[in-house]
Amino acid sequence: MPSENMKEQLLELEKKALEELAGVDGPSELEKFRITYLGKKGLLTSFMKKLVELPADERPEVGKLANLIKADLSKLIREQGIADIPASITATVDVTLPGREPLRGHLHPITLVIKEVCQIFSRMGFRVVKGPNVELDYYNFEALNFPKDHPARDMQDTLYVSENIVLRTHTSPIQVRVMEKQKPPVSIIAPGKVYRRDSDVSHTPMFHQVEGLLVDKDVSFGDLKGTLTGFAHQMFGRDTALRFRPSFFPFTEPSAEVDIQCVICGGEGCRTCSHTGWLEILGAGMVDPEVYGFVDYDPEVYSGFAFGMGIERIAMLKYGIDDIQLFFRNDMRFLRQF
Ligand code: PHE
Repeated sequence: MPSENMKEQLLELEKKALEELAGVDGPSELEKFRITYLGKKGLLTSFMKKLVELPADERPEVGKLANLIKADLSKLIREQGIADIPASITATVDVTLPGREPLRGHLHPITLVIKEVCQIFSRMGFRVVKGPNVELDYYNFEALNFPKDHPARDMQDTLYVSENIVLRTHTSPIQVRVMEKQKPPVSIIAPGKVYRRDSDVSHTPMFHQVEGLLVDKDVSFGDLKGTLTGFAHQMFGRDTALRFRPSFFPFTEPSAEVDIQCVICGGEGCRTCSHTGWLEILGAGMVDPEVYGFVDYDPEVYSGFAFGMGIERIAMLKYGIDDIQLFFRNDMRFLRQF
């Protein structure tokens, strides 16, 4: 078939289509129209398939015309489709506006730090466990060697639910719960929320801790130092120095507070570290034999260490945040940065 003839047929087809489109009424007729011309077996589609029969030098010209007509028809169908939407909708909604991209969520900075801490200790062989937020006085204090009415309880401003039930003030009660159920060797890490009657720029009534406990035969203070040094190197960088300062906790003996070299100034002294070059990140020590008495471990056979770190503190150091309240204000401008 000579190409002139094909072109004529195409233009004829277009004319017919346009006439028909003018009479199309409503979405279902429009769809029928689309299928008639542009569907898989539609008139225009079939025509385009026949183009291969043309001599190669005539094909491009006719092909171009066919594509133009196809594009035109598609556009008209689209426009007709939008025009078919009832006026009651188009009056209030611009249906041609691009959609709004849904917001993608992500993890809270505190969750991110908890995950990272747990990952580091998991790699060292510690098992991750959880304990209740509403805790018996027995686990939170008594079995950790804080006797009733003992001044050591003043270290923690407690929220009491009733005389013997408290919101846990630290994650240390999980130590006792685990040792009650399991004989040594024990090595666990326990992340969670803790509560204290306390609120200012560096304190919130709820915050997070990660507890660690390891009990076995022949565990020494050296093991504690090695474990915490390994942790600090992975968390803050390989060259971070650690400092152990003597301290007191009723459930560890000896006890220490552990500082890392200031991550802001590298130990030179700056505002963040109050010009000392050091930042406190956790409390630790060797499990006090008194505690073994509550869980029926033989202190002559076993020894162990425990530590507890404040997650907000670590997150503040890691991300350079100077106000702890920011974590809990739900301000998207802050949270979106992580
Ligand atoms: N529980 C202590 C606190 O919250 C920290 C700690 C944990 C100290 C384990 C020693 C051993 O202050």
